[in-house]
Amino acid sequence: MYKHNIHICLGSSCFSRGNEELLELIKDYLSKNNLKEKTDFRGHLCSGECKCGPNLTIDGQEYHNLKIENIEKILDRHFRKETVTEI
Ligand code: FES
Repeated sequence: MYKHNIHICLGSSCFSRGNEELLELIKDYLSKNNLKEKTDFRGHLCSGECKCGPNLTIDGQEYHNLKIENIEKILDRHFRKETVTEI
């Protein structure tokens, strides 16, 4: 059973506006922090919110207009407590 979920929009608009790169960054982050096995990370098709993309949802929290430079901070905010307690 997964503890977390990350759903990334892989529709053409979000994909071309940044989610192609964010997908790789998130995969790297999950691997680096031993979160891969605990996280259901999946893509989905366009949800009709292209104008506020690229879009991502982490544990039910929606993020819009994502910037590549902010993704690590966002992931840290969600996962920091867990990665710290595992040390
Ligand atoms: S492509 Fe992501 S909401 Fe449309």
